[in-house]
Amino acid sequence: MVLVNVGCGATFHPSWINFDIVPVAQGVRRLDLRSGLPLAASSADACYCSHVLEHLSPGEAGSLLTEMRRVLKPEGVVRIVVPDLEVIVRAYLANLDDAERGDSKAALRYDWMVLELLDQMSRRSCGGEMARFIQCCPQDVRSFIVSRIGREAESFWTNGGSKKSMASRLLAKNVAWYVDSVRYAIVLSLATLVGGRKGRQAVREGWFLGRGEVHRWMYDRRSLKRKLIDVGFSGVKTCRPDESMIPNFNEYWLDMCGEQVRKPDSLFVEAKRG
Ligand SMILES: C[S@@+](CC[C@H](N)C(=O)[O-])C[C@H]1O[C@@H](n2cnc3c(N)ncnc32)[C@H](O)[C@@H]1O
Repeated sequence: MVLVNVGCGATFHPSWINFDIVPVAQGVRRLDLRSGLPLAASSADACYCSHVLEHLSPGEAGSLLTEMRRVLKPEGVVRIVVPDLEVIVRAYLANLDDAERGDSKAALRYDWMVLELLDQMSRRSCGGEMARFIQCCPQDVRSFIVSRIGREAESFWTNGGSKKSMASRLLAKNVAWYVDSVRYAIVLSLATLVGGRKGRQAVREGWFLGRGEVHRWMYDRRSLKRKLIDVGFSGVKTCRPDESMIPNFNEYWLDMCGEQVRKPDSLFVEAKRG
Protein backbone atom coordinates (compact mmCIF):
# COMPACT_ATOMS: atom_id res chain seq x y z
CA MET A 1 0.00 0.00 0.00
CA VAL A 2 1.27 3.48 -0.87
CA LEU A 3 -0.30 5.90 1.63
CA VAL A 4 0.28 9.65 1.52
CA ASN A 5 -0.26 12.10 4.40
CA VAL A 6 -0.43 15.60 2.97
CA GLY A 7 0.40 18.42 5.44
CA CYS A 8 0.93 16.00 8.32
CA GLY A 9 2.17 18.42 10.99
CA ALA A 10 3.04 16.35 14.06
CA THR A 11 0.44 13.68 13.25
CA PHE A 12 2.07 11.06 11.07
CA HIS A 13 2.74 7.33 10.90
CA PRO A 14 5.97 5.77 9.57
CA SER A 15 4.02 3.53 7.16
CA TRP A 16 2.90 6.64 5.26
CA ILE A 17 4.75 9.10 3.01
CA ASN A 18 4.49 12.28 5.07
CA PHE A 19 4.77 15.82 3.69
CA ASP A 20 4.71 19.21 5.39
CA ILE A 21 6.00 22.70 4.70
CA VAL A 22 7.46 22.73 8.25
CA PRO A 23 8.71 19.19 8.91
CA VAL A 24 8.77 18.39 12.61
CA ALA A 25 10.70 15.12 12.40
CA GLN A 26 13.10 13.13 10.20
CA GLY A 27 10.28 11.00 8.78
CA VAL A 28 8.52 14.05 7.31
CA ARG A 29 9.47 15.34 3.85
CA ARG A 30 9.65 19.10 3.41
CA LEU A 31 7.21 20.24 0.72
CA ASP A 32 5.15 23.30 -0.10
CA LEU A 33 1.95 21.64 -1.28
CA ARG A 34 1.30 24.61 -3.57
CA SER A 35 4.02 23.24 -5.86
CA GLY A 36 2.34 19.84 -6.31
CA LEU A 37 3.14 16.33 -5.08
CA PRO A 38 6.49 14.75 -6.10
CA LEU A 39 4.87 11.37 -6.79
CA ALA A 40 4.16 9.47 -10.00
CA ALA A 41 0.64 9.46 -11.46
CA SER A 42 -1.58 6.56 -10.33
CA SER A 43 0.95 5.44 -7.69
CA ALA A 44 -0.92 5.88 -4.38
CA ASP A 45 -3.67 3.87 -2.71
CA ALA A 46 -4.79 6.67 -0.40
CA CYS A 47 -4.22 10.36 0.30
CA TYR A 48 -5.06 11.78 3.72
CA CYS A 49 -5.22 15.52 4.25
CA SER A 50 -6.30 16.72 7.70
CA HIS A 51 -6.81 20.37 8.67
CA VAL A 52 -4.75 21.58 5.71
CA LEU A 53 -7.16 22.58 2.94
CA GLU A 54 -8.39 25.59 4.94
CA HIS A 55 -4.80 26.89 5.06
CA LEU A 56 -4.82 27.33 1.27
CA SER A 57 -6.73 29.76 -0.92
CA PRO A 58 -9.73 28.17 -2.71
CA GLY A 59 -7.70 28.04 -5.96
CA GLU A 60 -4.68 26.44 -4.28
CA ALA A 61 -6.94 23.93 -2.53
CA GLY A 62 -8.48 22.98 -5.89
CA SER A 63 -5.00 22.46 -7.37
CA LEU A 64 -3.99 20.29 -4.41
CA LEU A 65 -7.10 18.12 -4.77
CA THR A 66 -6.34 17.77 -8.49
CA GLU A 67 -2.79 16.69 -7.57
CA MET A 68 -4.09 14.13 -5.08
CA ARG A 69 -6.40 12.74 -7.74
CA ARG A 70 -3.48 12.54 -10.20
CA VAL A 71 -1.30 10.48 -7.83
CA LEU A 72 -4.10 8.13 -6.74
CA LYS A 73 -4.65 4.75 -8.40
CA PRO A 74 -8.04 4.42 -10.16
CA GLU A 75 -9.83 3.06 -7.05
CA GLY A 76 -7.68 5.14 -4.68
CA VAL A 77 -9.28 6.94 -1.72
CA VAL A 78 -8.92 10.57 -0.70
CA ARG A 79 -9.79 11.42 2.92
CA ILE A 80 -10.21 15.12 3.68
CA VAL A 81 -10.66 16.46 7.20
CA VAL A 82 -11.38 20.13 7.83
CA PRO A 83 -12.88 22.27 10.60
CA ASP A 84 -16.63 22.15 9.99
CA LEU A 85 -17.87 25.65 9.13
CA GLU A 86 -21.50 24.60 9.56
CA VAL A 87 -20.96 23.28 13.09
CA ILE A 88 -18.90 26.34 14.04
CA VAL A 89 -21.61 28.71 12.83
CA ARG A 90 -24.39 26.77 14.57
CA ALA A 91 -22.44 26.68 17.84
CA TYR A 92 -21.67 30.40 17.54
CA LEU A 93 -25.35 31.27 17.04
CA ALA A 94 -26.62 28.97 19.80
CA ASN A 95 -24.14 30.35 22.33
CA LEU A 96 -24.79 33.94 21.25
CA ASP A 97 -28.50 33.44 21.96
CA ASP A 98 -27.87 31.75 25.33
CA ALA A 99 -25.30 34.39 26.34
CA GLU A 100 -27.80 37.15 25.54
CA ARG A 101 -30.33 35.36 27.78
CA GLY A 102 -27.84 35.73 30.64
CA ASP A 103 -26.14 32.32 30.66
CA SER A 104 -22.60 33.10 31.85
CA LYS A 105 -21.13 29.76 30.73
CA ALA A 106 -22.60 30.27 27.26
CA ALA A 107 -20.90 33.69 27.21
CA LEU A 108 -17.53 31.96 27.57
CA ARG A 109 -18.43 29.42 24.89
CA TYR A 110 -19.49 32.31 22.66
CA ASP A 111 -16.07 33.96 23.16
CA TRP A 112 -14.41 30.71 22.10
CA MET A 113 -16.61 30.31 19.01
CA VAL A 114 -15.74 33.85 17.88
CA LEU A 115 -12.08 32.84 18.07
CA GLU A 116 -12.73 29.69 16.03
CA LEU A 117 -14.43 31.80 13.39
CA LEU A 118 -12.10 34.77 13.23
CA ASP A 119 -8.79 34.36 15.04
CA GLN A 120 -7.46 31.63 12.79
CA MET A 121 -8.06 33.80 9.73
CA SER A 122 -6.76 37.06 11.12
CA ARG A 123 -3.89 36.21 13.48
CA ARG A 124 -0.48 37.58 12.70
CA SER A 125 1.56 35.67 15.25
CA CYS A 126 1.86 32.02 16.27
CA GLY A 127 -1.10 30.75 18.31
CA GLY A 128 -2.95 34.05 18.07
CA GLU A 129 -5.67 35.01 20.56
CA MET A 130 -6.78 31.39 20.74
CA ALA A 131 -3.61 30.28 22.54
CA ARG A 132 -3.95 33.18 25.00
CA PHE A 133 -7.61 32.31 25.64
CA ILE A 134 -6.83 28.62 26.26
CA GLN A 135 -4.05 29.51 28.69
CA CYS A 136 -6.14 31.94 30.74
CA CYS A 137 -9.69 30.59 30.41
CA PRO A 138 -11.74 29.65 33.49
CA GLN A 139 -12.36 26.01 34.38
CA ASP A 140 -15.99 26.39 33.28
CA VAL A 141 -15.17 26.48 29.58
CA ARG A 142 -12.36 23.92 29.48
CA SER A 143 -14.45 20.84 28.79
CA PHE A 144 -16.19 22.73 25.98
CA ILE A 145 -12.83 23.60 24.39
CA VAL A 146 -11.76 19.94 24.60
CA SER A 147 -15.05 18.90 23.01
CA ARG A 148 -14.20 21.26 20.15
CA ILE A 149 -10.48 20.86 19.44
CA GLY A 150 -9.68 17.62 21.24
CA ARG A 151 -7.27 16.63 23.94
CA GLU A 152 -4.37 18.67 22.55
CA ALA A 153 -5.89 21.60 24.48
CA GLU A 154 -5.22 19.76 27.74
CA SER A 155 -1.46 20.15 27.33
CA PHE A 156 -1.91 23.90 28.01
CA TRP A 157 -3.40 23.22 31.42
CA THR A 158 -1.29 20.24 32.44
CA ASN A 159 2.14 21.56 31.47
CA GLY A 160 1.59 25.11 30.28
CA GLY A 161 1.36 24.36 26.54
CA SER A 162 4.07 21.64 26.62
CA LYS A 163 6.70 24.19 27.57
CA LYS A 164 9.90 22.34 26.70
CA SER A 165 13.23 23.86 27.58
CA MET A 166 14.82 26.06 24.93
CA ALA A 167 17.73 23.57 24.66
CA SER A 168 15.45 20.57 23.94
CA ARG A 169 13.45 22.62 21.42
CA LEU A 170 16.61 23.60 19.54
CA LEU A 171 17.94 20.04 19.58
CA ALA A 172 14.68 18.81 17.98
CA LYS A 173 15.10 21.16 14.98
CA ASN A 174 16.61 19.98 11.71
CA VAL A 175 19.16 21.64 9.40
CA ALA A 176 16.42 23.14 7.18
CA TRP A 177 14.97 24.92 10.23
CA TYR A 178 18.35 26.50 11.03
CA VAL A 179 18.88 27.56 7.39
CA ASP A 180 15.40 29.10 7.39
CA SER A 181 16.07 30.95 10.64
CA VAL A 182 19.29 32.47 9.29
CA ARG A 183 17.52 33.56 6.09
CA TYR A 184 14.77 35.13 8.16
CA ALA A 185 17.23 37.01 10.35
CA ILE A 186 19.01 38.40 7.26
CA VAL A 187 15.77 39.47 5.52
CA LEU A 188 14.45 41.03 8.74
CA SER A 189 17.66 43.04 9.25
CA LEU A 190 17.63 44.26 5.64
CA ALA A 191 13.94 45.22 5.86
CA THR A 192 14.58 47.14 9.09
CA LEU A 193 17.54 48.91 7.53
CA VAL A 194 15.56 49.96 4.45
CA GLY A 195 11.99 50.27 5.76
CA GLY A 196 12.41 50.96 9.46
CA ARG A 197 9.68 49.75 11.83
CA LYS A 198 7.12 49.34 9.01
CA GLY A 199 9.53 47.29 6.91
CA ARG A 200 10.30 45.04 9.87
CA GLN A 201 6.59 44.55 10.61
CA ALA A 202 5.82 43.76 6.96
CA VAL A 203 8.50 41.07 6.81
CA ARG A 204 7.42 39.59 10.15
CA GLU A 205 3.80 39.31 9.00
CA GLY A 206 4.67 38.10 5.49
CA TRP A 207 7.00 35.41 6.85
CA PHE A 208 4.36 34.28 9.34
CA LEU A 209 1.64 34.15 6.66
CA GLY A 210 3.89 31.95 4.48
CA ARG A 211 4.35 29.37 7.24
CA GLY A 212 0.91 27.81 6.79
CA GLU A 213 -0.68 28.52 10.19
CA VAL A 214 -3.37 30.97 9.07
CA HIS A 215 -6.72 29.85 7.67
CA ARG A 216 -7.49 31.22 4.19
CA TRP A 217 -10.89 29.57 3.70
CA MET A 218 -13.42 27.29 5.39
CA TYR A 219 -15.65 24.45 4.25
CA ASP A 220 -18.93 22.78 5.11
CA ARG A 221 -20.40 19.48 3.84
CA ARG A 222 -21.84 21.19 0.76
CA SER A 223 -18.83 23.22 -0.39
CA LEU A 224 -16.31 20.45 0.26
CA LYS A 225 -18.38 17.90 -1.64
CA ARG A 226 -18.72 20.31 -4.58
CA LYS A 227 -14.97 20.97 -4.57
CA LEU A 228 -14.17 17.25 -4.71
CA ILE A 229 -16.68 16.64 -7.51
CA ASP A 230 -15.36 19.66 -9.45
CA VAL A 231 -11.89 18.10 -9.71
CA GLY A 232 -13.28 14.69 -10.74
CA PHE A 233 -13.65 12.64 -7.55
CA SER A 234 -16.67 10.36 -7.26
CA GLY A 235 -18.68 8.73 -4.47
CA VAL A 236 -18.11 11.67 -2.12
CA LYS A 237 -19.44 10.90 1.32
CA THR A 238 -19.33 12.41 4.79
CA CYS A 239 -18.22 9.83 7.32
CA ARG A 240 -17.80 9.31 11.03
CA PRO A 241 -14.32 9.94 12.45
CA ASP A 242 -13.79 6.20 13.00
CA GLU A 243 -15.12 5.16 9.59
CA SER A 244 -12.95 4.90 6.47
CA MET A 245 -12.57 3.13 3.14
CA ILE A 246 -8.79 3.08 3.76
CA PRO A 247 -7.97 -0.40 5.09
CA ASN A 248 -7.18 -0.49 8.84
CA PHE A 249 -7.22 3.31 8.95
CA ASN A 250 -7.81 3.54 12.70
CA GLU A 251 -4.65 1.57 13.41
CA TYR A 252 -2.53 4.52 12.24
CA TRP A 253 -3.87 6.81 14.99
CA LEU A 254 -4.50 9.69 12.62
CA ASP A 255 -8.16 10.62 13.29
CA MET A 256 -8.70 8.23 16.18
CA CYS A 257 -6.39 7.87 19.18
CA GLY A 258 -7.72 4.58 20.50
CA GLU A 259 -11.34 5.35 21.32
CA GLN A 260 -10.87 9.15 21.24
CA VAL A 261 -11.54 11.35 18.25
CA ARG A 262 -8.39 13.45 17.79
CA LYS A 263 -10.08 16.54 16.32
CA PRO A 264 -13.79 16.46 17.22
CA ASP A 265 -14.53 19.81 15.54
CA SER A 266 -13.98 18.22 12.13
CA LEU A 267 -15.88 17.36 9.00
CA PHE A 268 -14.65 13.99 7.65
CA VAL A 269 -15.17 13.32 3.96
CA GLU A 270 -13.97 10.55 1.66
CA ALA A 271 -14.16 10.01 -2.09
CA LYS A 272 -12.69 7.77 -4.77
CA ARG A 273 -10.60 8.79 -7.73
CA GLY A 274 -13.18 6.98 -9.84
C1 LIG B 1 -3.52 22.56 11.52
S1 LIG B 1 -2.08 21.76 10.99
C2 LIG B 1 -2.69 20.13 10.72
C3 LIG B 1 -1.62 19.09 10.87
C4 LIG B 1 -2.08 17.65 10.78
N1 LIG B 1 -2.49 17.28 9.44
C5 LIG B 1 -3.19 17.38 11.77
O1 LIG B 1 -4.29 16.97 11.37
O2 LIG B 1 -2.94 17.55 12.97
C6 LIG B 1 -1.84 22.35 9.34
C7 LIG B 1 -0.58 21.79 8.73
O3 LIG B 1 -0.57 22.14 7.34
C8 LIG B 1 0.75 22.51 7.02
N2 LIG B 1 0.69 23.37 5.83
C9 LIG B 1 0.01 24.52 5.68
N3 LIG B 1 0.23 25.06 4.48
C10 LIG B 1 1.07 24.20 3.84
C11 LIG B 1 1.68 24.18 2.55
N4 LIG B 1 1.47 25.18 1.67
N5 LIG B 1 2.46 23.14 2.21
C12 LIG B 1 2.69 22.13 3.10
N6 LIG B 1 2.16 22.08 4.33
C13 LIG B 1 1.36 23.11 4.69
C14 LIG B 1 1.25 23.24 8.25
O4 LIG B 1 2.65 23.31 8.32
C15 LIG B 1 0.67 22.37 9.36
O5 LIG B 1 1.52 21.34 9.76
